[in-house]
Amino acid sequence: MSAFAADGSAEYSYASLSGMTNSFSVQNKIGHGGSGDVFLGQIVVFLGQIERSQVAIKVIRAMQGVQVDDTEFRRELNVLSMCRHENIVPLLGSSSEPGKPLCLVYRYMSGGSLADRLLPSSSWPPLPAPARIDIAVGIALGLHYLHQPDTERNKPSIFHRDVKSANILLDADGYAKIADAGIAREADSSVTMTGGMGTSGYIDPEYFETGDFTAKSDVFSYGVVLFELLTGLQAFDSTQQGRNKKLFQRARRTVLPADARAGFDEMKEKLLRDLAMECTAEDIDERPSLEECITRLLGEVREFEPELVQPTGFACQRVRNLHGCTSKDEILTLYTLRLLRGMRRGLDA
Ligand SMILES: Nc1ncnc2c1ncn2[C@@H]1O[C@H](COP(=O)(O)OP(=O)(O)OP(=O)(O)O)[C@@H](O)[C@H]1O
Ligand SMILES: [Mg+2]
Repeated sequence: MSAFAADGSAEYSYASLSGMTNSFSVQNKIGHGGSGDVFLGQIVVFLGQIERSQVAIKVIRAMQGVQVDDTEFRRELNVLSMCRHENIVPLLGSSSEPGKPLCLVYRYMSGGSLADRLLPSSSWPPLPAPARIDIAVGIALGLHYLHQPDTERNKPSIFHRDVKSANILLDADGYAKIADAGIAREADSSVTMTGGMGTSGYIDPEYFETGDFTAKSDVFSYGVVLFELLTGLQAFDSTQQGRNKKLFQRARRTVLPADARAGFDEMKEKLLRDLAMECTAEDIDERPSLEECITRLLGEVREFEPELVQPTGFACQRVRNLHGCTSKDEILTLYTLRLLRGMRRGLDA
């Protein structure tokens, strides 16, 4: 086990990451994605006091014949390590030793991915409707933060480019965090860091046609995730025929039933369905902005389920510590305000 400061841009030796993961053992493997395997690691961090913490280490599989431009990789890592927001999985650091695979070190999210949580075979209990709305708010807040430049932190505008339920992770409190800003890049950059350019079933058809990726392309993919939250179905289902394979095409043609396991009331079902339909509109001008999504979702939360915006667990404690308040109402108001402020400046994770 090794000791490091969790300052957001730490550089790890490959040997130290190997030490944290039992030599990248099979027992430590927690996932597999397009770019490689993900391992659970133990780390010691100094945050005033010594704390043991869990990290997820993504080992980027080398692509045959592809030279990784180290300068570019580093510049992009820099940008990503600037992103600090309650709804973004924090990138803690990286490793890029010559002759060794590139590794990205993220904070570990123990609540699993949204994709896994929505599967009927999931070992987790089904997500109830209020939690799904909460997750929809969290994703929109995180995406909005990514899209906004933050001059104070020198953070440029960033598009995610691979918004999907597998890239939404939940923390121990069920709070949604966007993962894999790993292939996200600056809005004006044409360089790809780790390869992929979106996932089938989520890609904006307009981008497919024109090659122009815009903020509304992320909104489109977000709309597909809203359809997943609403129906519990997968964005791409290879057992279906032809165009039915893509959930958004099926859901835009026919009114698919809401996921019975969620127990949606009429209002929430309509809200999610309407937003999902609008976000996946063919005409990008008809797609709502993320602010509009947030306002509409929070409106629903505040108006019909005020208890939903109550901070829970970790968040609650932090609001309490930060503002020294104890009353339920004060915490609720300050938490909501911090969420909204996060739309512009980001919240320190
Ligand atoms: N920070 C993390 N905390 C906990 N689990 C994680 C973390 N990052 C990744 N995982 C797990 O590893 C799995 C694979 O992640 P990965 O990002 O490599 O693949 P993916 O998102 O399915 O596909 P892609 O390569 O296109 O992003 C995730 O679905 C998740 O279960
Ligand atoms: Mg991923």
